[in-house]
Amino acid sequence: MRIGIIGAGQMAQALGRGWASAGHDLVIGARSRAAADQLVATIGHGARAGSMMDAAEFGAAVLLALPVSALDTVLGEVSAKLVGRTVIDCTNAFMPDVAAPAGATAFVLSEDAVAERIAATAPGAHVVKAFNVCAAEVWASDAREFEGRRLGVPICGDDPAAVRQVCALAEDLKLQPVSSGGLHRAKYLEATSVFTVGLWFSGQDARAIFPPLDAAFAVED
Ligand SMILES: NC(=O)c1ccc[n+]([C@@H]2O[C@H](COP(=O)([O-])OP(=O)(O)OC[C@H]3O[C@@H](n4cnc5c(N)ncnc54)[C@H](OP(=O)(O)O)[C@@H]3O)[C@@H](O)[C@H]2O)c1
Repeated sequence: MRIGIIGAGQMAQALGRGWASAGHDLVIGARSRAAADQLVATIGHGARAGSMMDAAEFGAAVLLALPVSALDTVLGEVSAKLVGRTVIDCTNAFMPDVAAPAGATAFVLSEDAVAERIAATAPGAHVVKAFNVCAAEVWASDAREFEGRRLGVPICGDDPAAVRQVCALAEDLKLQPVSSGGLHRAKYLEATSVFTVGLWFSGQDARAIFPPLDAAFAVED
């Protein structure tokens, strides 16, 4: 698949390297051409560098690997090129939790529905929320099985073909896609991320709070 990546930071590298290794064609576009050049040199596998517009035009799927604060500006430039394309939103609108105890690292959300805002800002793009729950280092790692189960990637989107594409891209990274409903549910994924990251940063095991499916009593009363 042709994948455009906008941004050349940690998420661009983690996901881009995996997709390039899996045989996908990549164009990485960043505001700094030097940063894009450096990242494609790291990734290899024929990945090419360009502008943000180049990445938007190239990708059948386009990953927005940007801080939330950059989205308005970048989408203002490229949104016309995203019509009909799958746009993967991995962003998290984290900001420091000022109510956290002194010395503790904790976050809250600066806004609560980023994926829906992207969809409103880029009409015609098929926005899919994915890859926002775990750290870039997790996506970059070879570790995929934990306690005998493959790591899952919750995925929310409205366009079935776009969701299928992102599920396939998760599988290409040897991850387990978890279809999690329409884009209106992406806000819950965003909240899940800030909540679980908060637990992890405070030294608690977020995984421990969930029973397995067969013990979850997920039945209607
Ligand atoms: N890192 C993680 O563990 C992780 C995990 C899950 C989700 N996320 C989310 O993924 C997104 C990307 O995170 P990241 O860790 O890859 O960030 P990062 O390493 O800081 O990289 C951000 C990229 O965005 C570019 N950028 C920043 N401001 C910009 C602007 N105004 N216009 C154009 N480009 C701009 C940066 O370019 P410059 O180098 O020129 O500044 C850089 O290429 C964020 O929304 C983050 O919340 C991150």
